[in-house]
Amino acid sequence: MNKINKLAILSLLLMLSNLAVAYVEGEEINVGAKKSITLKFRDPNKPHSAANYIDTANSLIGGGYASSIHEILGHAVKFVPVNYLNGDEIRVLEKVDTLGVGPKFYGAWLTEKDGKLYAAMEMEKLTGEPLSKMIPWHLESDKALLKLQDIFKDRVDGKTYFFDRLFAMLKILADNKISYPDTHYGNMIYPISNDMKLVDFGESELHNTAQAAATRTLEAEYVKRLIRMFEDPFMEGNRGKTAVKDLAGLRALSAGQ
Ligand SMILES: Nc1ncnc2c1ncn2[C@@H]1O[C@H](COP(=O)(O)OP(=O)(O)O)[C@@H](O)[C@H]1O
Ligand SMILES: [Mg+2]
Repeated sequence: MNKINKLAILSLLLMLSNLAVAYVEGEEINVGAKKSITLKFRDPNKPHSAANYIDTANSLIGGGYASSIHEILGHAVKFVPVNYLNGDEIRVLEKVDTLGVGPKFYGAWLTEKDGKLYAAMEMEKLTGEPLSKMIPWHLESDKALLKLQDIFKDRVDGKTYFFDRLFAMLKILADNKISYPDTHYGNMIYPISNDMKLVDFGESELHNTAQAAATRTLEAEYVKRLIRMFEDPFMEGNRGKTAVKDLAGLRALSAGQ
């Protein structure tokens, strides 16, 4: 084979390998099944790429139906296939970064594995465990209340801490036009110290008004169930101070007052 032929074959191979790479580093792609968002593609072929973690048990922190969350270099990175992505999850994470109710946010990008596009969201890894590890969602009302009080008993406001903190967070989010319908225990991180925080803004939305946000939060089944527990006569005398005020505040927001 002469030199010219070799060159021709080489350049043909190069062309073919370029065709196989569907996306290029830095390329901006609009993605999302709901509320689309434009994210930058990051080369998943680099050594130690975060993409290597998808679908592996390596440093897996948690995951749901479609997503997986891994601890990577001390941060939590959530991978969601783009056909399941709610673009508002990322917009909300950006806003939540400074609100003190969730993890700090370090950015989102796109990566690829086995021809599938994933959104990656890099956040602070919160210390603590989801509350669901300590209390089953199906626990009936009074027992659940006792258990919640027991979990936070070491706090000064242990008896009222859970609802004080929960309604404070939902109110802060609504004030910032963010709805949060997904209030099951798996999305609440119970810390050994510091305050309880929320993760998982996959069901959240950014609204035009605080009123719309408060209304969507209050209408969510998970939220309604916790409010029913809070208003159980069993709670009489243990409802705390801020929980009553913040729940009333949420309702006033929703009513447009
Ligand atoms: N920033 C974080 N810090 C610590 N743990 C996290 C963080 N984000 C998620 N997790 C863990 O991963 C689990 C699943 O994350 P989540 O965002 O709720 O995913 P999904 O949308 O699949 O429910 C959570 O229950 C929690 O235990
Ligand atoms: Mg979740």
